[in-house]
Amino acid sequence: MCAKKDIHDTSHITYESLLEGNKQFIEDTLKIDPHYFEKLANGQNPPVLWIGCADSRVPANQITNTAPGEIFVHRNIANMVIHSDMNMLSVLDYAVNVLKVRHVIVTGHYGCGGIIAAMSNHQYGLIDNWLRHIKDVYRLHADELDAIEDAGKRTDRLVEFNVIENVYNLCKTSIVQNAWSTGQPLSVHGWVYSLSTGKINDMKVSTTDNANLADVFKFK
Ligand code: CO
Repeated sequence: MCAKKDIHDTSHITYESLLEGNKQFIEDTLKIDPHYFEKLANGQNPPVLWIGCADSRVPANQITNTAPGEIFVHRNIANMVIHSDMNMLSVLDYAVNVLKVRHVIVTGHYGCGGIIAAMSNHQYGLIDNWLRHIKDVYRLHADELDAIEDAGKRTDRLVEFNVIENVYNLCKTSIVQNAWSTGQPLSVHGWVYSLSTGKINDMKVSTTDNANLADVFKFK
């Protein structure tokens, strides 16, 4: 019996091996469909925008069994939706107004390093300014979080709250609200992925209008 590969050993990944991998990918893909790349080069029509964590273990396509062309992806540390983040806003604007995606999904994951870092009192440097937004989420839900004695469970719950708040943040944007007010079909969802089981936990906060927003956030 051959030994199972240690997935934490990435020493075989080199600059050259990535380019070799690309050759293999082309060869394997063309074997199945000789016109695959020509067809894909003709454009994209993804029905989904994914806003996920940059963590290497949470690749949007693999964990949803989808292919290139099927999910438009934006990833950052701890899957954040920050209303002054031009990068995220540009991706959202393009996805909603040009690609006309029908779903935007914020996907967090249990054991998220960004969340764990934000819960600590340690200074990490520049990234502290990004993690501050997660500390704000903690403050909003401090009563429930402080009551959870187990540190791991408390982290997991903050991961969930962070997804829920970022779904809420998406709904607050003029981009999403304008799509809704013009009758464009658009749903916003929140998921949490489990690294230990591979399973997606639907936070059941799917939203198709701004009815649940506090009045001050509603645009006319
Ligand atoms: Co993460």
